[in-house]
Amino acid sequence: MTTNELRPYQRDVLVAVEDSCFNRKGLTFSVEIARQGGKNELSAHLELELLVLSRGEHKDLIKCSPTFQPQALISMRRLEDCLDAAGCGGNWWTERGYIVGFGNSRAVFLSADESSRVVGHTANLLLEVDEAQDVDADKFTKDSICLSVCLRSRACKPNSYFTFSGHRYLSAREESLI
Ligand SMILES: Nc1ncnc2c1ncn2[C@@H]1O[C@H](COP(=O)(O)OP(=O)(O)OP(=O)(O)O)[C@@H](O)[C@H]1O
Ligand SMILES: [Mg+2]
Repeated sequence: MTTNELRPYQRDVLVAVEDSCFNRKGLTFSVEIARQGGKNELSAHLELELLVLSRGEHKDLIKCSPTFQPQALISMRRLEDCLDAAGCGGNWWTERGYIVGFGNSRAVFLSADESSRVVGHTANLLLEVDEAQDVDADKFTKDSICLSVCLRSRACKPNSYFTFSGHRYLSAREESLI
């Protein structure tokens, strides 16, 4: 198995997000790509590279999805496939059914469903949310789960897009990155 080569529009996002992560810029990205355009593929590549490059550090990235089953589990599987395809098979590990690790770094997959209890995690590598238009903005504000990457589909109605609570976001993000 080999990794899919990212398309230019996917690669551009990956490069920009990694630049922000590794140079501590703390930027927020909202990425809008058409249905089946490769949002999860892009996300898995990003997670793969962040985990591998941070393997010597005890750092976490957090990915939230509107539901745990199936969306978070699908994302986990996509990352695992990506790790295998990149030649990392046998070196990554899983924990508690929602964590994928490589070295000392971890990807934590959580549900953003309104009933979920997710406070307590620290995203010191990256916070991302898949299908952000389906996630309740108040839920994120309340939990201080803030987004570094927000993947959403262009096919969704504009008024259902996730919106940031900017001030609160900034303070929480700065705490997690500095
Ligand atoms: N760069 C790529 N090269 C080859 N295939 C790709 C690439 N990116 C995505 N794909 C394939 O395209 C399909 C859709 O990808 P993916 O699930 O990442 O899209 P998505 O935007 O998350 O879809 P959805 O809108 O349904 O959530 C998958 O079969 C995936 O393997
Ligand atoms: Mg998707």
